[in-house]
Amino acid sequence: MKPKYYITTPIYYVNGAPHIGHAYTTIACDVMARFKRLDGYDVFFLTGTDEHGQKVEKAAGDAGMDPQSFTDGTSALFRSLTERLKISNDDFIRTTEARHKASCQALWQTLAANNQIYLGGYEGWYAVRDEAFYDEGELTTRPDGTKVAPSGAPVEWVVEPSYFFRLSEWGDKLLEFYEQNPDFIAPASRRNEVISFVKSGLRDLSVSRTSFTWGVKVPDDEAHVMYVWLDALTNYITAAGYPDAGAERWGFWPADLHVVGKDILRFHAIYWPAFLMAAKLPTPKRVYAHGWWTAGGEKMSKSLGNVIDPQELADTFGLDSLRYFLLREVPFGNDGTFSRKALISRLNTELANDLGNLAQRSLSLIARNCDGRLPGDDLATAEDADLLGAANALVEGVRARMERQAFGDALEEIWKVIRAANAYIDHQAPWALKKTDINRMRCVLRVLVDVLRIVATLLQPFMPDKMAAMLDQLGVPTTMRQIADLEHRLAEGVALPAPQGVFPRFVEDAE
Ligand code: MSP
Repeated sequence: MKPKYYITTPIYYVNGAPHIGHAYTTIACDVMARFKRLDGYDVFFLTGTDEHGQKVEKAAGDAGMDPQSFTDGTSALFRSLTERLKISNDDFIRTTEARHKASCQALWQTLAANNQIYLGGYEGWYAVRDEAFYDEGELTTRPDGTKVAPSGAPVEWVVEPSYFFRLSEWGDKLLEFYEQNPDFIAPASRRNEVISFVKSGLRDLSVSRTSFTWGVKVPDDEAHVMYVWLDALTNYITAAGYPDAGAERWGFWPADLHVVGKDILRFHAIYWPAFLMAAKLPTPKRVYAHGWWTAGGEKMSKSLGNVIDPQELADTFGLDSLRYFLLREVPFGNDGTFSRKALISRLNTELANDLGNLAQRSLSLIARNCDGRLPGDDLATAEDADLLGAANALVEGVRARMERQAFGDALEEIWKVIRAANAYIDHQAPWALKKTDINRMRCVLRVLVDVLRIVATLLQPFMPDKMAAMLDQLGVPTTMRQIADLEHRLAEGVALPAPQGVFPRFVEDAE
């Protein structure tokens, strides 16, 4: 039986249209999910939309719509972006679905039965934009006297009856949990942030609201809707079949990886494991907090009009180039500034030149000089062995980096081999060998095909369509494109299709 792997994106608020930040998280998860499938895992990859709460209710009101019709519309935008980005998710969850409401209520009842929830009153600050409660000490006062959350979101003073979750009792258990699971929070700098926050002391968490109605009803107390973060986090177990422990999907829980943005780490690394421990459910294995993309150094926002549309980028530059760029340009975990110029430069240098030309040069020589058939490698030299050795070692090297979600590093390892292969073809000059030693020429071309095959196989998760085309050109049967298949050699003499460039250069229109 294949080992199981469960990966999730955050579920997206449906108060507006998706932008590059949302596409980034989803693409990173898609790359990870595809890599695990390629490496022989049975993967369950979940994404979806977070539809309740005050922020979404307000956005619906502003649009003059009832929340359900409004969220039906905006959730569909996220679903269609997921499809247009060819994301390989296995499920798309909406928190307004019946399965999810039932799951939230079951979790609530379990927490209540375990004496983890009590009725009280909340009096304090709340930021609707973040859907988060803040302590006075976390806020800053602007020159005009208004107070804002650390995220810059305005806060309001809230006084209302509320149920509380006994979060304060979980501080030590959480610290112990982080200690015993050093890989639970990544990257390491984020882990330290979370630990010091927990060490500073946790207060009980308000987990219901009474001042609006757009949410999952609290069981047996209809005046309350659940706090949107309790509702939202629960999506990860809903999709795994909770509360039905006999559900086939339950075999995927606990999740192997929750990928989130740095802004929502606190919810995933503190509240979520605390809720689960309190409900006596297994905790997820890892939460990775990635950084934020800005537009020219500024936060993207509708009001600034600088929101970057992932669909437009995919249409202009090609989906796979966009995927490659997003994961290559900025180390996962760091913030980055989005720049079209940088995208074009990577596309033209790394994809078109380094990789595309290498394949095109090698394959056209085979087409012209080897009758279009895959040659053998009977005249191998030490240089061939070096290059092939480096390419074979990529499997382990890339796997280790993917395990840490070091996507940029994984790509850099692959590019080291691509650059070495370019140096090799220039040095061996198979076009000249044609006249002096045709058998050696055949061997050099075979080495290049073998190296390209390894590279293209490992790049499939990053650029699925382009690498499918490249593997077609290399004559690799579709049944032989898994990592495990790299152990099997391609048969000599196989006819290759007529070579066609996979990565055209991007030429900007003259203004
Ligand atoms: N609904 C919550 C998540 C609930 S998960 C149980 C939420 N939604 S969100 O739509 O506001 O954000 C979803 C994700 O998009 C977050 O991980 C956030 O970090 C990410 N991004 C939003 N803007 C971003 C950038 N500009 N750059 C990178 N990612 C950013 O939070």
